[in-house]
Amino acid sequence: MSAPKKLFIKTYGCQMNVYDSERMAEALGGEGYVETKSPDDADMILLNTCHIREKAAEKVYSELGRFKGLKAEKPDLKIGVAGCVAQAEGQEIMRRQPLVDLVVGPQSYHRLPEMEAKAREGEKVLDTDFPEEDKFEKLKNRPKAKRGPTAFLTVQEGCDKFCAFCVVPYTRGAEVSRPADRILREAQDLVERGVREITLLGQNVNAYHGAGPNGDMTLAQLIWELDKVDGLERIRFTTSHPNDMQDDLIEAHGTCAKLMPYLHLPVQAGSDKILKRMNRAHTAESYLRLIERIRAARPDILISGDFIVGFPEETEADFQATLDLVEEVKYGTAYSFKYSTRPGTPAAERPQVDPAEADDRLQRLQALLTKQQREVQDSMVGRDVTVLFEKAGRFPGQMVGKSDYLHAVHVADCDRAIGDLARVRILSSGSNSLAGALVD
Ligand code: 5AD
Ligand code: SF4
Repeated sequence: MSAPKKLFIKTYGCQMNVYDSERMAEALGGEGYVETKSPDDADMILLNTCHIREKAAEKVYSELGRFKGLKAEKPDLKIGVAGCVAQAEGQEIMRRQPLVDLVVGPQSYHRLPEMEAKAREGEKVLDTDFPEEDKFEKLKNRPKAKRGPTAFLTVQEGCDKFCAFCVVPYTRGAEVSRPADRILREAQDLVERGVREITLLGQNVNAYHGAGPNGDMTLAQLIWELDKVDGLERIRFTTSHPNDMQDDLIEAHGTCAKLMPYLHLPVQAGSDKILKRMNRAHTAESYLRLIERIRAARPDILISGDFIVGFPEETEADFQATLDLVEEVKYGTAYSFKYSTRPGTPAAERPQVDPAEADDRLQRLQALLTKQQREVQDSMVGRDVTVLFEKAGRFPGQMVGKSDYLHAVHVADCDRAIGDLARVRILSSGSNSLAGALVD
């Protein structure tokens, strides 16, 4: 038998890209590839790219340029670009960077084995179609390898919301939900391989409406089906849109013990004028009332969010409205960004905010969010939480895991194994994590 070929994948961006990279590695595993951590000994390099912010495409071109020497030494080396930059740029990538052998958009990963074979024969291959077939179903031929205690599982892809700043509806396409039976089979398989916690992924995950035995199912109904899977202990989901936060999902946060008390619910801005221009189709007030209802169902839930500052035509007063909203919600964690123009999106054509002003707003917002994050984390001290252990710590006998609220927790003198759940009393709060001791 010939030596296995080596695959190096570099993943940028969101959790969905992490999940997709795993699936691509498995698909190419079927063609005799094993993963390597270094591009230097690879027979194939794949960049799984992100296009959401900044000069994503430029970064990809400069990264590709760095492989020039490697390709000169190893003419058989194949280089591929996947992900949202591949989708957005398409043929342009091969034109600008002749080193690239293969360009594959997110909806075509199941065709990767055929594409790889063609590339091996010296062809340049491009696939950025939006085919009808279920790519994950076709990506299934994976070995039954043991897995760590946490995993992502994509249930929904694409988005029909068309926020005025966002490329996702263009790069990931229209909203599509996977049928429930396939998701349940995949979850069962993950649990058999050691997974205890599954995070359901989707760009608009709470818009989930996949086919079930009695018609389309809601995300909450899917969660209740997953709740029945023995050995699965925790369920999370991300990312949600406020307008798809249906009653049964809010209720599940109060009644489904496996559903963790953590919700990522981006609002983007606190000014109704800006929300309207962003095409968010909700107001600051409706978002605040929604948070109230979610907290009524699950008072201790940790709320996380995304924010954009410096969106076209944002004034200081608009920005103040964002700060006011943040004060009212009190976020346990948050991601905040300076607006960056995405060619082809409606907001790209509008009058831009002075970059220095936007920088200043970002700093002020981040200072407030960091303070809140710290307060929420500190408020855990003295409480008992459940921790799922994910790895050994830096010190002998120490283990590290995540609490129900997704805080990292370090436990000294811990006789538990990776994948175990245990009650832990939180004793102190550090810069980015908590420390605690096993209860009894
Ligand atoms: N500029 C800045 N931030 C953006 N996001 C999406 N598009 C842009 C953009 N053009 C942010 C949003 C979204 C998160 C994933 O990235 O906050 O929720
Ligand atoms: Fe982008 Fe999310 Fe808006 Fe969809 S809902 S367009 S993914 S920001």
